[in-house]
Amino acid sequence: MTFDLSPIDKAKFAAAKRAADYVEDGMRVGLGTGSTAAWLVKCLGEMVRNDGLRIKGVPTSSRTAQLAREAGIEVISLDEAKWLDLTIDGADEYDSNLNLIKGGGGAHLQEKIVATASDQMVVIADIGKQVETLGAFPLPVEVIPFGWQTTKTLLEETLIGMDVLGRMTTLRMNGDHPFITDEGNHIIDLHLNRIGNARQLSLVLNQIPGVVENGLFIDICDVIVIGHGDGRVEVRDINHGTVEESQIEFLETDNLFSDL
Ligand code: A5P
Repeated sequence: MTFDLSPIDKAKFAAAKRAADYVEDGMRVGLGTGSTAAWLVKCLGEMVRNDGLRIKGVPTSSRTAQLAREAGIEVISLDEAKWLDLTIDGADEYDSNLNLIKGGGGAHLQEKIVATASDQMVVIADIGKQVETLGAFPLPVEVIPFGWQTTKTLLEETLIGMDVLGRMTTLRMNGDHPFITDEGNHIIDLHLNRIGNARQLSLVLNQIPGVVENGLFIDICDVIVIGHGDGRVEVRDINHGTVEESQIEFLETDNLFSDL
């Protein structure tokens, strides 16, 4: 039951539940990846099954596609949807300008494509993801497998000229093997500690041959829904300059937790 959830999970659920209010009948919705986005998919699935909500979901990973189908959400590809009304996704870090680091789950390539193809991106996160300056969370960079060691060296050389506090890079592993993304690529994590100019870094990284996409989301997020462990939720809208607070009651949603 809900009471057994950790405060962080309660915060993630509260953010997801509040963000589900943005979804309207008939919308084409980008579905993010990660533990917070998984709560959203469950909430939307419940709305589809219980309230007759009709939406088409475009998942940002094979994991989310499976979860969405299991929840009863109609799944289509981005090419079928072409453009989306809304994308709701998690984040690893966000700053006061709603710039993000994403890709902790290795899905930032599809996430960035889907979010950019949406009228609006709503990010759902617990308060622990908030930072003054991006960079404490290692920045994921998706690279193609061909020549990845050369790409890694080029990344390290590029970082010498950038406003960052750390320059270590690591190939992401899955046990004894390199992590493989849904697109068949690898991820190199950049341990930068602090990113002085995220916009510049994002542009420069994507110029390196072999780099497919980095995990910085600059000027893509429109709204952030921040959850707290006690059910409080804060909604910040960067375009309208508004901040709203509300409270999520966990009791109403007990059936969402039945499979935990
Ligand atoms: C997936 O690649 C990421 O971008 C996730 O959206 C991000 O890591 C947030 O994940 P959690 O919601 O699990 O913290």
